[in-house]
Amino acid sequence: MKIVCCCGILLTQLILCSATGYHPAYSVFFGGAHRNAYYRPQFQQQTAPVVNTFDGSNAIFGNGIGSPPRLAAQQVPSALDPSGMGCGTPPATCTNSRYRSFDGSCNNLRNPVWGTPNTRYGRLLPPNYGDGISLPTRARSGNPLPLSRTVSLIMYPDINLEDPIFTLNAMQYGQIVTHDMSMIAGSTQAQPHSTMCCSASGQLLELANIPEHCFPIVLPESDPIAQQTNQRCQNFVRTITDRDRNCVAQNQPAEQLTAVNAFLDLSIVYGNNDQTAQSLRQFQGGLMTVDVRNGQTWPPRNMNSSGVCAIQDINEACYMAGDTRVNQNPQLTLLQVVLLREHNRLANALAQINSHWDDETLFQEARKINIAQHQYITYYEWLPIYIGFGNSLKNRIIYQTSDFVNDYDDTVDPSILNEHATAAFRFFHSLIQGNLDLVTEERNSYGTLRLSDWFNRPQIIEERNNFDDLSRGLNTQPQDASDQFHTSEITQFLFRAGQQFGQDLKAFDVQRNRDHGLASYNEVRQFCGLPRANSFNDFLDVMSSKNVEQLARLYESPEDVDLTVGGSLEQLVPGTLAGPTFLCILTEQFYRYSFLEISYVCYHKTISNRLFIIVLFTCMSSSLLNLKIQGDSK
Ligand code: HEM
Repeated sequence: MKIVCCCGILLTQLILCSATGYHPAYSVFFGGAHRNAYYRPQFQQQTAPVVNTFDGSNAIFGNGIGSPPRLAAQQVPSALDPSGMGCGTPPATCTNSRYRSFDGSCNNLRNPVWGTPNTRYGRLLPPNYGDGISLPTRARSGNPLPLSRTVSLIMYPDINLEDPIFTLNAMQYGQIVTHDMSMIAGSTQAQPHSTMCCSASGQLLELANIPEHCFPIVLPESDPIAQQTNQRCQNFVRTITDRDRNCVAQNQPAEQLTAVNAFLDLSIVYGNNDQTAQSLRQFQGGLMTVDVRNGQTWPPRNMNSSGVCAIQDINEACYMAGDTRVNQNPQLTLLQVVLLREHNRLANALAQINSHWDDETLFQEARKINIAQHQYITYYEWLPIYIGFGNSLKNRIIYQTSDFVNDYDDTVDPSILNEHATAAFRFFHSLIQGNLDLVTEERNSYGTLRLSDWFNRPQIIEERNNFDDLSRGLNTQPQDASDQFHTSEITQFLFRAGQQFGQDLKAFDVQRNRDHGLASYNEVRQFCGLPRANSFNDFLDVMSSKNVEQLARLYESPEDVDLTVGGSLEQLVPGTLAGPTFLCILTEQFYRYSFLEISYVCYHKTISNRLFIIVLFTCMSSSLLNLKIQGDSK
C-alpha cells in the first residue's frame, strides 16, 4: 500500500470548504486531477516552470550551487541561553505528555528550551555589525551604506508581472508559514511603535534626542513621498537582542531574539504560551472560542481593538488569535479563520465518534490533527513550489516512499536562521498583489479590494459575501511574479491607515538586514558555493548587467552589497521561486526544520514528524481527513 498525497487537494478543501460550507465534492470539481489551490486554473501544472528572467537571459543554476554545505550539528550556533536570563525560559520539567507544549519547550528533551519564544535566531555566518558588536552594518570603508529607501526606490520599482503558474494562495500560505516560524522581538508590525524615532511631522530628530534602539529610515530629497508631504523620516525601531536583555557579556556580538516559538505547530492559531492558549479556548467540546455573526464563526474580538487595529468605528471587527499579526491583511486573516474553523470542525467530528472523550482530549486531538495537516500542506504542497520538488527530494526534505522514515535528530538546533527570516524568506514580499480579486462561484472576478485600504481592518472579510469571494480570489488570482518588482501598495502605502502615503516594506527589509548585522551578500554567496566576487562584474554570473550597474552606482564595493539586496537580484533557479543564494538558505532552513521535531501524532516521542501523514492515516478515518489511499502503482 502506498500513501498518495493528492497534491494540493488538502489546502483547497480547507479553504473552499470553510468558505462555502463543507462540500468535499466541490473542491474536487475545482481542483481537478492535477490542479490545486496554488495553480492558476488556466495553466496546466508543469514539472519545471519556465522562468523568464527580466533581462531575457536564461536563469542559471550550476551543479551543486543551491545545495548548501551541511553544517555539523556542533557548528550550528545555539539558541540556548546559558544564563537563562530573559533569553528563553527553560521549563521547570518536561512531563511525559502525549501533546506538544504551546511554547515549544520539551520538543527536544536534551535541550528543552530550544525553539521556545524569546530565544535567539541562529546564524549561518558571523554577524557584520558596524562596530563588530551591535551597531548597524556600515560599508567596509566605515562610510554609511546607501539609504535603504534609495535602494528600495531604485531596485524594487512597481512593475506588474504575474506568476505564470501559481495563485495568490501560494504567496498567502507563505506568510502563514513565516508567522508560524518567527517574529522579531519588540515588533508591533502595524500599529505605531511607542518608541518614536522621528518628529511628529516626519522630520529627523537631533542626534541627542533620538531614543535608544532607533534606526530611522531617511527619505532622500528626491523621494516621491518627501516631495509631496515634506516627510524625511520614517519610524524604525531596532529588534530586541540578547544584549538588551543582559544575557551575554558586554563584548559579545548581539543576537536578535524571536518572540514566537520556532516550530511549525500552528502557534498562530493556538498561541505561544499556556495563557494565550487558555484565553482562546471555549473549554467545551474541545472547541476554540468563536463569535457567531450572520450564521458564520469568526475569531473572538480583540479587547484592545482600537490599539491593535486601524479601525474607523469601534464596532468594526478586530480579532484575537494565537498570533498578534492576525489582522494585518485580509487574505492572511482569511487563512487564519480557515485554520481556526478547521480546529472546530475536527473537534466536532471527533466528538461524534468518541463520545467518551472529555474537552481536553477533544481539544488536544483536534489540535494535533490540525497541526499535522498544516505540516503536510507546508512540506508536500507549498514548499516544493518555492524551493522546487526535485530540490526538496534531493536534499531529503521530503520523501517519496511507502516506508516510514525516521530521521529525527536531537542535536539539530531548531532556531530560525537570521539569514532566512531577515533576508531570504522576505524576498517573497515580491509575490504580494496590490489588489485582491473578489470572485463569484462561477469564477468571475467582479471587483477588487485595494490592499492598503484594509491593512489591520479585517471587518472587510465579514462584509457581504466577501469571505467566500476572497477565498475564491485566493485560489484563482495569480500571485505576483517572483522578481525584484514590488507593488507600491507595500513600498509606498504600507499601513497607511487612511493617510495618503504609508511606509515601505522593502526599505524595512534592507534596514532590518543592517539592524541584524547580516553577513554580506558576497560572504553568503560564497558560503553557498558561488565564486566570491572581486568586482561588481563578478556578479554577472547570476545577475543582469543592468542590475550589476545599478549596484555599482549604489555601493562603494561588492563587499558592501546587503544580502537582502544581492540575493533578490539573482536570476531564479529553474523550477523554484528563488535565485541560488536564497535557495541555498531556504533549503538549509527547511531541511533543518523538517527533522528537528518529534511527531506528536499518535506516537509521542518515538518517530519523526516526517511520518505524520502515514501515522495520521493509521490513526484517523480517511473520510474525516479526505486523504486517499491507493494500491501501490509501482
Ligand atoms: C500582504 C502580505 C504581507 C505583508 C503586508 C507583510 C508585511 C511584513 C512586515 C510589516 C514585516 C516586518 C518588517 C520589519 O519590521 O522588519 C514582515 C516581516 C516578514 N515577512 Fe512579510 N508581509 C507579507 C507577506 C509575506 C510573505 C508572503 C512572506 C514569505 C513567503 C513574508 C515573509 C516575511 C518574513 C520572513 C518576515 C520576517 C519575520 C520575522 O520577524 O522573523 N511576508 N512582513
